[in-house]
Amino acid sequence: MYFPHMIYGGDYNPDQWPEETWLEDARLMQEARVNLVSLGIFSWAKLEPRPGIFEFTWLDRLMDMLHAHGISVNLATPTAAPPAWMVRMHPEMLPVTADGVRLWHGSRRHYCPHNPDYHRYATRIAAQLAERYKDHPALVMWHVDNEYGCHVSECYCDISAASFREWLKKRYTTLEKLNFAWGTAFWGQVYGDWNEIKPPLRTPAHANPTQQLDWARFSSNSWLACFDEQKVILKRITPNLPVTTNFMGFYKGVDYFKFSPHEDVVSQDSYPDTYEPDWMVKAGMAYDLIRSVGVRHTWLLMEQATSQVNWRQRNVNKRPGVMRLGSLQAVARGADGIMFFQWRQSKAGAEKHHSGMLPHTGTDSRTWREIKALGNELPLLNSLLSSQVQAEVAILMDWENWWALELDSKPSNDLKLLPQIYSYYKILFERGITVDFAHPDTNLSCYKLVVAPTLYLVSDHSSENINRYVENGGTLLISFFSGIVDENEHIRLGGYPASFCEMLGLTVEEYTAYPKGLANTLRTTDGRTFTCSLWSDVICVHGCEALAVYESDYYAGLPAITRHKYGKGLGYYLGTELESAGLDWLLGLVCAEAGIMPVLPHLPAGVEALRRSKEGKSWLFLLNHTGSKVQIPIENAGRDLLTGEAVNNSISMETNSVVVLELDNKLTQKH
Ligand code: GLA
Repeated sequence: MYFPHMIYGGDYNPDQWPEETWLEDARLMQEARVNLVSLGIFSWAKLEPRPGIFEFTWLDRLMDMLHAHGISVNLATPTAAPPAWMVRMHPEMLPVTADGVRLWHGSRRHYCPHNPDYHRYATRIAAQLAERYKDHPALVMWHVDNEYGCHVSECYCDISAASFREWLKKRYTTLEKLNFAWGTAFWGQVYGDWNEIKPPLRTPAHANPTQQLDWARFSSNSWLACFDEQKVILKRITPNLPVTTNFMGFYKGVDYFKFSPHEDVVSQDSYPDTYEPDWMVKAGMAYDLIRSVGVRHTWLLMEQATSQVNWRQRNVNKRPGVMRLGSLQAVARGADGIMFFQWRQSKAGAEKHHSGMLPHTGTDSRTWREIKALGNELPLLNSLLSSQVQAEVAILMDWENWWALELDSKPSNDLKLLPQIYSYYKILFERGITVDFAHPDTNLSCYKLVVAPTLYLVSDHSSENINRYVENGGTLLISFFSGIVDENEHIRLGGYPASFCEMLGLTVEEYTAYPKGLANTLRTTDGRTFTCSLWSDVICVHGCEALAVYESDYYAGLPAITRHKYGKGLGYYLGTELESAGLDWLLGLVCAEAGIMPVLPHLPAGVEALRRSKEGKSWLFLLNHTGSKVQIPIENAGRDLLTGEAVNNSISMETNSVVVLELDNKLTQKH
């Protein structure tokens, strides 16, 4: 445990303001019980105004002043915003798009992750900061760079091309192996010299898919390499300080399963559009992902908005109570701290219409009152620090599968991974069932149910792992277009899904994508009918039992949903995209059979329930998203940590309210 209390604070950009405001900032931070600020994330130009000339005295004064006010610092390496002088001296450090367009200075993240000059300057400023502040009592954590991969996830310049070739040489050792993996016998793409290989620049027709997949792997890895390079320096100088960088939830460009083991603390930025009716489901899904990639390390909500952002088409503010509700939702899902972008709302620059903890209006504002109130109640949850969220269900998530599935020239360009994952997650969320995300390579034996939506790319090791999980007694629900290709994106031959045919007791002989607007129906063995669309597998039964069959087309009467006993476990297969009522029916059946219980049964729809626990203690969070007052029958539920009141019979919850019950008795619920 790195922190003695729940973290509360935000990004602090004092370099946007005259020094006179700094003291007021510190005083108001104290008033709102801010205990951590992420400092200097974009301050490189102020810290190193000319090459090799460092200006730290302003930061010294700030660090001292923050410390004097009891505020700790998550000090940033400012490497996401290289200064103008550097760009002028080394214009080739600017990133290049797949069309060969160089992106210029004037916003941020304008650097190529492979440029040696950039690396030289970035490691120098990181080392300078670490040496200067290594013994400063305010410094408690390092925030490396900012949102790796954001805005520009890949650079296609010549320096990047050379790095790509080096990476490929390590991966394949010989051109023969690379030619095999990339399937270059197709369209005469064969390479006879390493120097012929380029990044997947814009091509006349479909580019080589394995080249694109390797490019995604390489680019993701390049951001990790940037992080590691700085982390080594920071750890050498300050070995005991945790190092983090901020993640962006389901962000496609960086494989967070690979990245997170390199961090001490996993951090997440979260900007749900609270105008969408299912914002809490989307936010919850991203929190569960971050908790899962962090393998239950401490995680922090590093950034969120107090109200509106500035980067959507229409930036709606958060209604009263919604900021608190969303913040405590993160805590319910395992966060040990709540932070915001940013402390003081900007006066100038591209983000001046983005909300802040201290808005333009000042302290006589709803936002400030809500920020102050949340800061003052968060310490009531200090006893929850490092407690964990346990899940009985895992959804499989693999960035490599995501990249491969969404390359072009597929049966349906409308088949995307996240909507598939989301359709399952949403139903489980609404059923009050807690979910982890698991990589298909990891030990799955702690889960009663594993759901694998469209696991198109699967390695031999993952196939084996999933089959063993079922054989040893697990329940798997896997959907169409899974187990189709190996890690080279080569088809696994002999009937789909070749990796799982034996376990599922079936073969998919062929599949068909549906044109937009076309649908089919399926009839379940218990007499229900549901609409299905997007896709249909034509399934040959080899021992499985049909739970539903198609009603029309040439495959009418053939199974669409199956179940098969394999070893001690069960493998369910869904060969189409089901309307949500159908998916709800299926998940209801599968969960009942796997013995999966919601966190709390008999909850009104729209009330979210989560449990955190540690050392034999547990806490129940109830979050009211219904938009109205609700009454929840519950007995012997202990004490609400936020109000201090004992709950004996039932709980009355106002709109957007949250209850955190410390469960000291056996919880019971009236039916
Ligand atoms: C990201 C960045 C911040 C800020 C916010 C605005 O999360 O990390 O610097 O730009 O977006 O929403």
